[in-house]
Amino acid sequence: MTEDIKKKIRQLAKERDAIIISHYYCVPDIHDVADFVGDSLGLSQEAARSPQKLIIFCGVHFMAETASILCPDKTVILCNIDAGCPMADMITPEALAKRKEELPGVPVLTYVNSSAPVKAISDICCTSANAVKVMQTFQEDRILFTPDRNLAMYTQKFVPDKEILLWPGFCPTHHRVNVKEVKALKKAHPKALTLAHPECQAKVLAEADFIGSTSGIIKTASETDRRELIILTEEGVIYPLKKKNPEKVFLTPKTPMICPNMKKNTLQNILDCLTTNSPIIKVEEDIRILALRAVERMLAVPRD
Ligand code: 13P
Ligand code: SF4
Repeated sequence: MTEDIKKKIRQLAKERDAIIISHYYCVPDIHDVADFVGDSLGLSQEAARSPQKLIIFCGVHFMAETASILCPDKTVILCNIDAGCPMADMITPEALAKRKEELPGVPVLTYVNSSAPVKAISDICCTSANAVKVMQTFQEDRILFTPDRNLAMYTQKFVPDKEILLWPGFCPTHHRVNVKEVKALKKAHPKALTLAHPECQAKVLAEADFIGSTSGIIKTASETDRRELIILTEEGVIYPLKKKNPEKVFLTPKTPMICPNMKKNTLQNILDCLTTNSPIIKVEEDIRILALRAVERMLAVPRD
């Protein structure tokens, strides 16, 4: 049954000349049918460079919006229209405009996990893969970083002379990681390397040997000689990690790290997208032009 639907998806994607791209946090079945699986930065780059005019985006709303910002001539379809990002919802353009009025002359760095109208009134975006390098591009002494306060605090230590102003946003999936569970895992596996996503809280990051985006975590875990790896990011990365490194052991906290929104995307959704050509995500042109500035600036900065 599952194999049948996968076959149908691949056949339809070929017929319709569509590219299926997926974030690592989607379920393994979706990785299997996708043409490209990556982190937020990788997905934006792939959407921009792919020749196909139809993009089926398996991820969350802001990711499809970013693809629409970058590719106005392509049709961008979000696999499941209900897949949003609670962190992106923790900032509105109205609230950001108000904060900017209070902070004249202070540039705004906005995490790509945000809506297009928020990006449109930001100076530059970043993903977790290039947040430090983007932060290092500023000449100004004070920078407003929205909406992820954990990622903002993580970048602070690389620019000690600057003052980073925080926004009270966070990713519920990463923010809730329990440091006691991490310490217990480390104690039980003293030889393990600990890899964490910077959306985790500072006390969790303090326990990590490596901090980086999902692609950074996969790369580092695959390159190290260590056999045991403690993985502190959404559990979707475990599937590609095991595929690449069948001899290694991947350990995760007792409380599972699951993004319920990423998990809303299903194979049936992809099939429906390909047959109905919906739901299309299209950013309005006036917003798109403004948001494109911040996104293109982000893409010009390499990975950390
Ligand atoms: P990256 O894809 O940048 O690792 O970010 C993780 C995330 O939370 C995406 O929503
Ligand atoms: Fe948003 Fe966190 Fe889910 Fe990423 S993992 S989509 S930041 S809720």
